[in-house]
Amino acid sequence: MFRKEDKFMEVQFVESKNLKEKPTGALGFGKYYTDYMFVMDWDAGQEWHDARVVPYGPLEFDPASMVLHYAQETFEGLKAYRTKDGKVQLFRPEMNAKRFANSNKRLSMPTLPVDMFVEAVKTIVKYSEDWIPTGEGESLYIRPFMFATEAAIGVHAASHYKFMIICSPVGAYYAEGVNPVKIYVEDEYVRATKGGTGFTKCGGNYAGSLAAQVKAEELGYSQVLWLDGVHRKYIEEVGSMNVMFEIDNKIVTAPCEGTVLPGVTRDSILHILKDWGYEIEERHLSVDELMEAGHNGKLQEAWGTGTAAVISPIGELYYKGDKVTVSDFKTGELTQKLYDTLTGIQWGTIEDPYGWTVVV
Ligand code: COI
Repeated sequence: MFRKEDKFMEVQFVESKNLKEKPTGALGFGKYYTDYMFVMDWDAGQEWHDARVVPYGPLEFDPASMVLHYAQETFEGLKAYRTKDGKVQLFRPEMNAKRFANSNKRLSMPTLPVDMFVEAVKTIVKYSEDWIPTGEGESLYIRPFMFATEAAIGVHAASHYKFMIICSPVGAYYAEGVNPVKIYVEDEYVRATKGGTGFTKCGGNYAGSLAAQVKAEELGYSQVLWLDGVHRKYIEEVGSMNVMFEIDNKIVTAPCEGTVLPGVTRDSILHILKDWGYEIEERHLSVDELMEAGHNGKLQEAWGTGTAAVISPIGELYYKGDKVTVSDFKTGELTQKLYDTLTGIQWGTIEDPYGWTVVV
């Protein structure tokens, strides 16, 4: 049974005849997918219907499906963790549910009630439990997504959608593992402007970021750090994570004003830092101030926060030919402490004082 507000919807189950081999060795990120996926349809007038768990496999849909032309697509990312005592837990899944609803509203797509989203996640995790890896830093990455399936190439909000969830056993997101990454500050392209879709998780945001990513990789950098779309001056985020800096013993990060993704990990880390007595400045930080702080020794540590990236130390920043090395290209003390605390709560090795974990 699958809870839909106060009603209950049956979840159909189609058993796989071909269970896959589990991967051995390094998992990387997003290379392997579990045996089952969750699917549900939405049609105008009928709302959500036909919730089902079916064998993971290709989809067939009309070439005129609106997602292929006008990119009505949104997604989320969260993880399931196997604790030492064998429990399976999620981390703040209701925050993903709320952000998903905000993304969908912005893209004129149907929303899912929070409890329905969380139940769907729990359902697919139960069918994928044997895929949850237990190696150091490993978890089951859960990717809910929704897209427009109406076959129509006139531009309008579609009247048919699919909501799906796939799962992938993963290790570290970056090839560097939990070691410092090198970041390229982009000075030509922009990711978001106010009134746009920057605060949503929609595929289009990522498509538009790839030209800068290619440039960064050609120069030997793993990720792009975006500046604001109006002044091309203020630090926003790295597409795969929010960023934070310790400058003069204060924590500085971009405010969520519509252009930055409101990260679940971002919010959790700010909570933890406040509890530890840090002064937090959610403010516009110019790239010039950041590079200057790097050169005059005021930039103590820098890290990214994200579900996939977890806490990722930043070891180098590059902007228009100028380079700054952070924490001697080592993982800073605070960054390490944040990583240990967050992952300790997620994997259940330390007590969760915030009530963030949800047992499946
Ligand atoms: C996540 O951290 O879950 C993300 O969605 C970031 C990225 C893999 C696109």
